[in-house]
Amino acid sequence: MNDHPGSYTIRMPRSDDFDFWREMARSLIQHEAAPDRVFWSEPGGEGDLFADDELALPDTHANSPAVRANRRFVNLARNAILHSDPERFALLYRVLWRLQNNPRILEDKADPEVRRLEELDKNVRRDSHKMHAFVRFRLVENTHGGVEAEERYVAWFEPDHHILRANAGFFMRRFANMRWSILTPQGSLHWDGHTMCEGPPAERSDAPGDDSMEDLWRSYYASIFNPARLKVGAMLKEMPRKYWKNMPEAALIPELVAGAQKRESKMVEAGTLEFEDRPETLEAIDKAIHACRKCPIGELDNHAVMGEGPSDAALMIVGEQPGDQEDQIGRPFVGPAGQLLDSHLEKIGIERKASYVTNTVKHFKYVRRGKRRLHQSPGAKEIDTCRWWIESERAIVKPKLILAMGASAARGMLGKTVSISKVRGSPIPLEDGSELWVTAHPSYLLRLDGPAREEQARLFDADLAAVKERLHELSG
Ligand code: URA
Repeated sequence: MNDHPGSYTIRMPRSDDFDFWREMARSLIQHEAAPDRVFWSEPGGEGDLFADDELALPDTHANSPAVRANRRFVNLARNAILHSDPERFALLYRVLWRLQNNPRILEDKADPEVRRLEELDKNVRRDSHKMHAFVRFRLVENTHGGVEAEERYVAWFEPDHHILRANAGFFMRRFANMRWSILTPQGSLHWDGHTMCEGPPAERSDAPGDDSMEDLWRSYYASIFNPARLKVGAMLKEMPRKYWKNMPEAALIPELVAGAQKRESKMVEAGTLEFEDRPETLEAIDKAIHACRKCPIGELDNHAVMGEGPSDAALMIVGEQPGDQEDQIGRPFVGPAGQLLDSHLEKIGIERKASYVTNTVKHFKYVRRGKRRLHQSPGAKEIDTCRWWIESERAIVKPKLILAMGASAARGMLGKTVSISKVRGSPIPLEDGSELWVTAHPSYLLRLDGPAREEQARLFDADLAAVKERLHELSG
C-alpha cells in the first residue's frame, strides 16, 4: 500500500541512522526521484515500509551517475540527522538534490534551506555539548547473591535530539575504566569496561537518587562558584533549568545566588576561595577528577591524570598538566619531559618513587592538527578552577616541601602569577607550614639547545640540589 501513488515512502529504521539515509538518498537520486515524490518517516511512524516490493527502488546500474555530495554537506548532514525535527530527512534530501546541479549551494548563506541545515547542525552540537557537561553519574552497587559488590555508575539525561548513540564514544573514552550506564527517554547505553550495549528507553525513576559523590560535587561546585567572576544569568543560561534536577550541585543554585554577595566579600577579605568537605582519600580524588568538567579542558577528548606516589611523601613535585603520552598512559610525567625530569632527579639523588608527582591541571589541553594533538598551556582561570584538586591532594599527602615546576604550577600553588627567575632558589612559606620551591619546567629545557640549554640544566640541577638539602633539614 502506498499513501502517495507514484512516490516513495521511506521509513527510517532508526532516528539517527545516517548511513541508511545516505544509501536511500543515493539510490533515489540515481532514480531521479524528485524531492516532492519522496516521503520520509520516523521509525514507528505512519507510512509504508520501503521494503514493500511495490515501492522498492529497482537496483541501480553499475554505470548510474555518481551522486555529488561534498565533505561539508556530509559533515552537516551527519549531525543534522540527529535533530528531532521530523522534517530533517526531507530537508537533507532537498539540499542533496539541489547540490547535484549547484555544488556551491552551501556557500549561499541566505538560502533558507542551507540556513535551516546549519541551524539543525548547531542545535545538535549544542545538545551534545550539554550532554558532555551535564551528565552526572551516581554510584550504585550491584550485589550478586549478597556477596560480591561491584561498583556501577548510572546517569540520567534528557537530550533534546537523537544524540545518545553518537556520543557513546565520548563517554567510553572518558570513563573507560568505570562501569556505567546512561539512561535516557530515547534509549540507554551500558559500558562494562570492555563492551558497549544498547538498551531500551528508561524513565527518571530507573536512575538512582543521591549518593556520596554528590556531596563532593556540591562542595566542589560551591567552592568554584565565584560571583565576582561569574554572572548568574550567564551561568543559568549555560545550565538550563531542565538539567538542574540531574545535577547535585544545582541544588545549590538558589543558595549560591542568594549568598553571592556575602561570599564575594568573604572571598575578597580572605583573598582566596573557600573550600569545604574535601575528598578524604586520594582514591576519591582520582574518581572525582575523571568526572570533572568544570572547565573547557575537561570537555576535550582526554583523560584525567591523577598524581602518583606515596600518600605520605615529604616531597610533592608539581608540573603543569599531562601531555599527550601522560593522557594515553594515565600517569604523570612519563613522556619526554618526564624522562628529562627523571634523569635530573637521579643525577641529584632525589628518589622519584619516594615523592608524590602530580600536575596542577588534571586534563591535557591541546589543539588538534591533523592526527597530532598539540599542547596548549592552561589559562589562569583553568588553573584556578583546577586548584581545588591539587589543594585536596596536598591536604591528604601533607608534603613538607613542594617543588612547583613552571609558571602554571607556581600559580596553582600560590593563586597568582609569579616570575620564575625572581622566585626560584629560595623557599616560599605556605599557610599550612610547608614550603614551596619554584623552578623551571623540564619542557622549557627541552625547547632549548646549545649553551642556553646547558645553562638552564645547570640552574635546574641547582634548584633540585637545594630542594634535596632542605628536605634533609626538614626531615632531620
Ligand atoms: N608536563 C607536565 O607538566 N606534566 C606531565 O605530567 C607531563 C608533562
